[in-house]
Amino acid sequence: MESPPMPLQAGAADVRSIKIVVVGAGSVGVTTAYALLLDGLAADIVLIDIDTNRAQGEVMDLSHAAHFAQARVRVGDYEDCANAAAVVITAGVNQKPGQTRLDLVKTNYALFEDVVPRIAHHAPDTILIVATNPVDVLTHAAHRLSGFPLERVIGSGTAMDTTRFRHELGKHYGVNPRNVHAVIVGEHGDSQLPVWSLATIAGMRLKDYCQAAGVEYDESKLEACAKRTKEAAYQIIQRKGKTNYGVASVLVSILQPIVTNSDAIVTVSRVGTYGGVEDVALSMPCKLNRRGAHQDVPLLLAQSEQEALRRSALSIKEVLSALED
Ligand code: LAC
Repeated sequence: MESPPMPLQAGAADVRSIKIVVVGAGSVGVTTAYALLLDGLAADIVLIDIDTNRAQGEVMDLSHAAHFAQARVRVGDYEDCANAAAVVITAGVNQKPGQTRLDLVKTNYALFEDVVPRIAHHAPDTILIVATNPVDVLTHAAHRLSGFPLERVIGSGTAMDTTRFRHELGKHYGVNPRNVHAVIVGEHGDSQLPVWSLATIAGMRLKDYCQAAGVEYDESKLEACAKRTKEAAYQIIQRKGKTNYGVASVLVSILQPIVTNSDAIVTVSRVGTYGGVEDVALSMPCKLNRRGAHQDVPLLLAQSEQEALRRSALSIKEVLSALED
């Protein structure tokens, strides 16, 4: 099922040679494919799913959107991963109301044991972008199962939470979220931590911004912003059964600096040492370009934040040890 590649828009990055593969035709996977179409980031978008009938239905529908875009969308199999700029793994079960992301680990780890080696075999030089939850544990698993260097195995991680955090703080202060520089690091999950000590608006720490702008600085309201950030997925899943739009746009925001080689700093999950805990995947700011998450941006965390990061790392390490024993 193919739609012909369309000529490039003037001024667009030369994406004619860019292929991006999305593994998993569930709501996150197909919304990511749709977001990629609209963004014009790749000329060739391949959707892989064990249920080929479902994948074909999604591609038939997406192809009608591709008519207005600069890309083609098609159903593929793992050999189509060859020469992909990136392979996004969204396949797996997602949280049901009341479940944590860590509750999904056994089912989704077993799926990764099948899928990751197949991708690595056909695309030994690609970049893996992991979205499946629990994303930190599965980013570590994908690194081990693929044998790729750690910069080429990236989890969406707290890029999603950072986006939500900026949205909440922007709403609170009446500022465009793009003008809020604040990150969530650690686990994409219940042990995540907001880095208050480095949060700024217009280059000023929040307390200084409030003083300069003549607005109230109320720490309890800020903590409520962080709480809504952490609980956002639970609240959404309770109402619509899944999340897909936010994470799809976050995945595209991770792919953009990779495809355009533009060294954007994004809080993504990557295997490393966090809070003194070695060989675990957690999110910290990383520079992204066509080589992947090639440089971390170490944050000057406050003592309390370093301790919270260590706790987050230890909680993920515990799950990893149980899984990989
Ligand atoms: C969420 C999923 C992607 O936070 O974990 O929406």
